[in-house]
Amino acid sequence: MIRLDLRNAKLNEDLSLWQDRVNKAHDDLHNRTGKGSDFLGWVKWPENYDKDEFTRILALRDRMKGKYDTVLVCGIGGSYLGARAALEMIKGLYPDDGIEVIFIGNTFSHTYLSQVLNHIKGKEVVLNVISKSGTTTETSVSFRIFKQFMEKKYGNEVSSRIYATTDKARGTLKELADKEGYETFVIPDDIGGRYSVFTAVGLLPLALAGVDIEAMMKGSLDASKDLNTADLEKNPAYQYAVARRILGDMGYTEEYFITYHLQLTMIAEWWKQLFGESEGKEGKGILPTSACFTTDLHSLGQYIQEGRKGEFETILYVDDMADDIVFPEDKDDLDHMNYLAGKKLSWVTEMAFEGTLSAHSDDGNNPNLVIHLKDNSAYSFGYMIYFFFIACGMTCYLLDINPFNQPGVEVYKKKMFKLLGKE
Ligand code: PA5
Repeated sequence: MIRLDLRNAKLNEDLSLWQDRVNKAHDDLHNRTGKGSDFLGWVKWPENYDKDEFTRILALRDRMKGKYDTVLVCGIGGSYLGARAALEMIKGLYPDDGIEVIFIGNTFSHTYLSQVLNHIKGKEVVLNVISKSGTTTETSVSFRIFKQFMEKKYGNEVSSRIYATTDKARGTLKELADKEGYETFVIPDDIGGRYSVFTAVGLLPLALAGVDIEAMMKGSLDASKDLNTADLEKNPAYQYAVARRILGDMGYTEEYFITYHLQLTMIAEWWKQLFGESEGKEGKGILPTSACFTTDLHSLGQYIQEGRKGEFETILYVDDMADDIVFPEDKDDLDHMNYLAGKKLSWVTEMAFEGTLSAHSDDGNNPNLVIHLKDNSAYSFGYMIYFFFIACGMTCYLLDINPFNQPGVEVYKKKMFKLLGKE
């Protein structure tokens, strides 16, 4: 399902030298003995997930079928990026099944929120508000505005169209939801935001959007079994984790996450949060950044090839993306493109990938790590996400970092609250 190619990784030591450290970190991840161990619920979640709640999500989807054409998803960070990444990877940017998913709660931008309000005036809407803490300001601001929109539009019927995903018992959002009679879904105590896409945080919006969440969970389950070995020779997620550590020790401070399809750019955004928020603390970590090739080769390509060095590239290459196109022949060939006539665009992408790999690795001397994923199905999405979860846990433990907190994020909030006059 996932194949890691380290032939161009330029590592200065053998992975096997890290086996003892990997053994210890593997035990810490699986036995909940490492830093932040209260938040390791995601490790066994693909097996232990709440089956009753899963059934309730499917029942809600079936009950509302045909009654909505727009799903508003209100959340930020880990409470939205996973669902959006899944949606775009699996369904593409312009799905034609008549369901539009719009993300709010992830910005204060009045311009954006006004446009959304205007855009959905004539639509049939359901709203899923998602917040573990129940008090995140961006989410709360959007939610109040769109809650009032929904109340005006649907009157007494509104409570059947708003769903809250939050803590099982506590918090402002839970209290509000109970008072208003909204159906609620749970973010487990031991799973943090950026590790939560397989909980109701991702499952409910994805089910409402028509994604096959059963296949997604099966992918995560298979990954959790395949990757439950400390043996570095057999575990590509741990190989990736160790390769990152070796490159970090060699002085590489930036990691470009590269995709080759525009509908995978949100995967990169999700990955940036996972690694950035998990690893970037105590003055340590590798800056996670991203680019979509070949699009960004026409903007960042020059820098990556010849600019200041210090970055390596991790390429997520999906071997079999859906909906291929055969390039057509043209009898006049005025654009001189007939040399590609009859070729599939997937082949053109593959040649671009191989050419770029050689340019950046051989000529530019950048380390390149390639992660091959089979396809862009829901199953593969589930498999890949678990791969990155466990790789991230491992790479952080190897750096002696608690991957599951984000103390630095509080700093901007405190300063902003003071300026906003919040008690
Ligand atoms: O990964 C995280 O923990 C964060 O990105 C949170 O998901 C994000 O800050 C939103 O928090 P909440 O779900 O409490 O609104």
